[in-house]
Amino acid sequence: MLNNLQMLSGRAASINGFLAELLVMNTMKRILLVVCVSFFAGQWVASSEEAPTAASPGTAAGPNGAAPWEPVIAEWKSKKDHKPASNSYCYVCHLNYQKETFAQKHKAAGVGCETCHGVSDKHSEDEDNVTPPDVMYPKEGIAPLCAVCHPNDDLKKGGKHDALFTNPAAETKACMECHGEDHRLKVRTRKWDKQTGKLAWDDGVRMMKENPGSKSEKVGGIFAKDNLVAWCIVPFDAKKRGPVERADMLKRLGFSKFAYDWRDEHVPSFDQEIVTLKEHGIEFFAFWGQHEEMFKLFEKHKISPQVWMVVPSPPDGPREQMVEAAAKQLLPLVERTRQLGCKLGLYNHGGWGGEPRNMAAVCEWLQKNAGGKHVGIVYNFHHGHADIGQFRELFALMKPYLLCVNLNGMNADANPLILPIGQGQHEKDMMRVVVESGYKGPIGILGHRAEVDAEEALRQNLEGLDKLAPELLGKPVTGAGK
Ligand code: HEC
Ligand code: HEC
Ligand code: HEC
Ligand code: HEC
Repeated sequence: MLNNLQMLSGRAASINGFLAELLVMNTMKRILLVVCVSFFAGQWVASSEEAPTAASPGTAAGPNGAAPWEPVIAEWKSKKDHKPASNSYCYVCHLNYQKETFAQKHKAAGVGCETCHGVSDKHSEDEDNVTPPDVMYPKEGIAPLCAVCHPNDDLKKGGKHDALFTNPAAETKACMECHGEDHRLKVRTRKWDKQTGKLAWDDGVRMMKENPGSKSEKVGGIFAKDNLVAWCIVPFDAKKRGPVERADMLKRLGFSKFAYDWRDEHVPSFDQEIVTLKEHGIEFFAFWGQHEEMFKLFEKHKISPQVWMVVPSPPDGPREQMVEAAAKQLLPLVERTRQLGCKLGLYNHGGWGGEPRNMAAVCEWLQKNAGGKHVGIVYNFHHGHADIGQFRELFALMKPYLLCVNLNGMNADANPLILPIGQGQHEKDMMRVVVESGYKGPIGILGHRAEVDAEEALRQNLEGLDKLAPELLGKPVTGAGK
């Protein structure tokens, strides 16, 4: 029932459904629903002064003269291999778009809500919903947007738009009238002027947060369940599960992404692992190391997970020489992953090659000299005990390259190496650095305790995360890119 809910349609149904959904998701426990018309006026005046200037293609220009959606789309265009976009941040409220064809077709091609509507942090975080999204589209702004990726010449070739191009009357029909019927809201609770972003009308219903933490709790940010990746499971499971039991367990715990590590004994079940995960609706998110058998299966099953590889530690020498030597050792894998359309994640695992500065340098080298645009960094807390003291600085160095950040409880001196989140002295501060950096990528959660049932180990980490996340996200979290 909740899935069919048109959250943003009809006040009574929507707000109740909205609340129900949030409660179900256990993200926002207490919401005060307040009807407060006078608040509305004050709020808007106050926020309009520093309001994000909602702009639309062809109308308002961003700070550097470009429409604000241009950099976003330019970034999308600069990438070759597109992973499905994550729209989870928006589904929290716009639940109905999870089933809407136009959004889903684009999502699959890596064009998310954010690509067209901007990151919209302020909009998403505004409990009162009076802040507009970053980018809206007045009618005349729609065709120019589509044309960025679907040039008219292509449409003409496609032959489905003859009427559009030969009949001037038909030309006035906006693209979305045929392609985005369901993308439109049936009932509105608010409307903004699409050019200026000013709130033009609303139904007066406001939701006010009861405690400062609740705002982000609702969104779940990077710690939201569907942004989590289960990692260090296969060889570290006291129950020695096979692919099916493993996928069942992941599903029970609510994971939708899984990073696969393995030992020789697992090679014969590579194929079954992929098939089973797919059947369970769990993404084969990453693969540990390299194995030609598995790489062939990626092609067979048309998947392109991240490939995680330790950076080699070359013989001592001048730093630049070491960076180049380490990078060159990786070249065959850089090439293979490029062919496969996979991202290559350089993985910290101790030694020279596990130091953030060196990883960032190797990554930069590969991006510059080997066309390694698909190369990035996977940072593991559990191999980062030496980084605790200068984590903010080191994280900033890695930030531009990060593909995944795997969490762990952190005591000084790696004592013990593996600890559930929330039970160490330092992970909370480190996680705060991650949040404040604006990192938006996936977050890994470990099993990794051979003596403990993997399900129990993962559960302890999830519970720890549940405890820390609200407080971390409740602090003034800066927007993307800061
Ligand atoms: C490919 C670009 C694109 C993507 C991707 C996209 N949108 Fe839109 N969206 C548009 C355009 C264009 C309009 C204007 C539609 C119109 O006026 O007919 C729009 C309109 C909307 C509206 C207002 C509808 C109305 O009735 O005025 C909402 C809400 C919305 N989008 C939400 C989303 C959400 C949530 C996502 C992700 C799940 C998303 N959009 C993904 C292009 C996009
Ligand atoms: C950032 C690039 C981008 C923008 C902007 C964009 N699209 Fe797309 N669109 C894609 C990609 C990529 C696909 C999937 C591959 C394909 O079919 O071309 C797609 C798919 C589609 C499809 C489905 C085609 C099919 O085969 O089923 C339609 C229809 C479509 N887009 C219409 C639009 C319209 C209308 C707009 C403007 C409101 C728009 N797109 C804006 C990139 C974009
Ligand atoms: C009168 C209805 C109508 C209008 C208006 C319209 N389209 Fe289409 N479009 C279609 C039909 C029908 C198809 C073929 C079936 C499908 O893929 O949905 C199509 C297909 C497409 C495709 C898939 C590739 C192709 O060429 O077949 C894209 C992309 C697309 N349209 C984009 C656009 C854009 C961008 C606009 C605005 C400039 C637009 N459409 C306006 C009806 C329309
Ligand atoms: C806290 C809830 C919430 C979140 C999270 C949220 N929205 Fe919205 N959004 C709303 C509400 C409420 C409206 C007004 C819809 C209505 O009229 O009922 C809206 C309207 C919109 C519109 C329509 C603007 C127009 O043209 O009138 C767009 C586009 C949109 N949101 C995009 C997004 C995107 C993109 C995200 C994710 C980055 C997002 N929203 C996340 C609550 C939210």
